[in-house]
Amino acid sequence: MNKSPIGIFDSGIGGLTVVKAIQAALPFERILYFGDTARVPYGTKSQVTVRKYAADDTAMLMRYQPKIIIVACNTVSALALDVVEKSCGHLPVTGVLKAGARLAAGVTRNKRIGVIGTQATVSSNAYGLAINQLNAEIEVFSQACPLFVPLAEEGFIDHPATKLVAAEYLSEIMQKGIDTLVLGCTHYPILRKVIEETVGPEITIIDSADAVALGTKELLMESGLLAFTQTESTPHLLVSDLPQKFSTLYQLFMGSAMPDVELVEV
Ligand code: DGL
Repeated sequence: MNKSPIGIFDSGIGGLTVVKAIQAALPFERILYFGDTARVPYGTKSQVTVRKYAADDTAMLMRYQPKIIIVACNTVSALALDVVEKSCGHLPVTGVLKAGARLAAGVTRNKRIGVIGTQATVSSNAYGLAINQLNAEIEVFSQACPLFVPLAEEGFIDHPATKLVAAEYLSEIMQKGIDTLVLGCTHYPILRKVIEETVGPEITIIDSADAVALGTKELLMESGLLAFTQTESTPHLLVSDLPQKFSTLYQLFMGSAMPDVELVEV
């Protein structure tokens, strides 16, 4: 088990923000990543569809016998975490949503938190529920930002179009007096610079990737599953469509050499 990879999935490139954090926290672990690029975006789909995709994605990772599964997708964490848990039997599963909620609840000083995410995540109110479970006094204000996902998938990291869209989406939530803003979609940290510039320096931005990475490290340590090796390996990347495009985006976002990306059928 120790030698088995950490399995991570998302609808597309968004989960790479989690891969980056895992690599920093656990440099000697093997990483297996699946991006369901044939069916991205998930956040505009119905709950029934997202739950079906979650089962397929888990089955895909299970073929490679991972030791843990990280759901690097807020939409799946919000709508279908139980599906992932059921589909992988005894394996530990950790999702980005609870980690992000915990981090945000611990950081806010004025108890007013903004959450931005996909339409599906925002409609589920999963962040509001998770945050209020930790502290019922916190007020949560949510805003769906559906265009952020295709902008990230296109690599429009610091593009004027992204700035315009960010100004439009964030104007209302900025008037709620929030002191903390959760990036409740793993694609959004790719656009972090623009989001930060739009909301200004007073607001603390929460990216759940680091929290998930720390949680994963603790979990692997507690269960004696940390890798023994001291060699770093490049992640094994799987996608369901357009491997070349994924490879280019990987390089742009991760800043490392063009990796091999394997095309798989879900
Ligand atoms: N990155 C995913 C999330 O965190 C999914 C985005 C999408 O495919 O719409 O919600």
